[in-house]
Amino acid sequence: MNNFEITFPKRFLWGAGTSAYQVEGNNANSDWWDWETTTKRPEPSGLACRHYELYDSDFDLIQSLHHNCHRLSIEWSRVEPEEGYFSDHEIRHYEDVIKALKRRGIEPVVTLHHFTNPLWFARLGGWENKDARKYYSRYVEQIVDVLSPHVRFWVTINEPMVYAYYSYLAGLWPPQKKSFGLAMKVADTLALAHIDAYGRIHAIYKRKNFPAPLVSIAQNIRSFVRKNASFKNQAGAFARDYLFNQRLIKNLLHTKSLDFLGVNYYTRDVVDVRSWSPASFLSDVHKTDPAEIKKNSLGWDVYPEGLLDNLLHLKKYQLPIFILENGICTHDDNERWEFIQAHLKCVHDAMKKGAPVMGYLYWSLLDNYEWADGYAPRFGLVDVDYTTFKRTVRDSAKKYAQVCKSGILK
Ligand code: FCB
Repeated sequence: MNNFEITFPKRFLWGAGTSAYQVEGNNANSDWWDWETTTKRPEPSGLACRHYELYDSDFDLIQSLHHNCHRLSIEWSRVEPEEGYFSDHEIRHYEDVIKALKRRGIEPVVTLHHFTNPLWFARLGGWENKDARKYYSRYVEQIVDVLSPHVRFWVTINEPMVYAYYSYLAGLWPPQKKSFGLAMKVADTLALAHIDAYGRIHAIYKRKNFPAPLVSIAQNIRSFVRKNASFKNQAGAFARDYLFNQRLIKNLLHTKSLDFLGVNYYTRDVVDVRSWSPASFLSDVHKTDPAEIKKNSLGWDVYPEGLLDNLLHLKKYQLPIFILENGICTHDDNERWEFIQAHLKCVHDAMKKGAPVMGYLYWSLLDNYEWADGYAPRFGLVDVDYTTFKRTVRDSAKKYAQVCKSGILK
């Protein structure tokens, strides 16, 4: 029995998120589609959750779960399947999707780039191309022009550092490169692309005399905990926190291109530096075992305290903080509820200590295609049967719905 009851502010934004490629299905013009069908993967994304067709009934579910906010993304490769050709049909589809949320009184948070690229763009070198920002800006303008009457919250790029890391340093995602220099270069190009997009989005709203939108990125923040207080570990944890978590935010704050801080939080690394070689210094970790700490089904440590620490750290930037992703993949739905409860408690503690958090979106609404890990991880509040596409609302979703409805966590 828990003996606590905590209350969140009345206007707090509550909901869950998805990204187009992970739920829509049939995104055949994207670089991921090409990659997953031409390399050895657990499985291709295929029809995903068929959310492209089923969004209306999925939004009925969201409404019944009392979410007042929902995050989704636009699939660039649908909207611009060939260089310079923008599909009116697909842009109108997304307008219908957003309107379907608005009709239900649900606030949309729209991501413009969530890991996937059009195949034509990837073939031109993707984010390494010197004109990458130009291509991306052109797409952003097309979308924002049509969706601006309906959208207040924009996320230009999802997790730039994660994308740069997996695609250009670890070599685990397309285009599977392994270069520190290239990864940093791509990270910086993504930052510049965000700055361009920020300016363009604001200019469109201004031109149309709409109230100013709120534009940000979704920054994945990871906790870096030291195995012990050795100098190497202190320095290693500091460097990783700076490079992965802080550097991008600092640069964007410097250019005044963040209206809020979009934060995705999942886990921690236990820093255990064994030598001063750059690879060791930046990546040695102590591999925890399940006897030490709870883990999700992908083996990531469950570490709610890290969310509290990071929110308190971000407080100094004096911008509203919006938690755009936080969640667990598990086959035990009780664990999911415990995860949500523990993390929401930390959010509330951080708020009591002055962190200006304005909303929390669980990742994810639906079980979905977890990138290189395929369909095995189950992150959803709602279970998806990948044969029948039937949705089943989990108990954790019902408990979370009570929090969304009342603003009270028990
Ligand atoms: C984040 C991604 C999201 C999902 C979760 C588990 O890094 O933004 O698409 O894969 O991890």
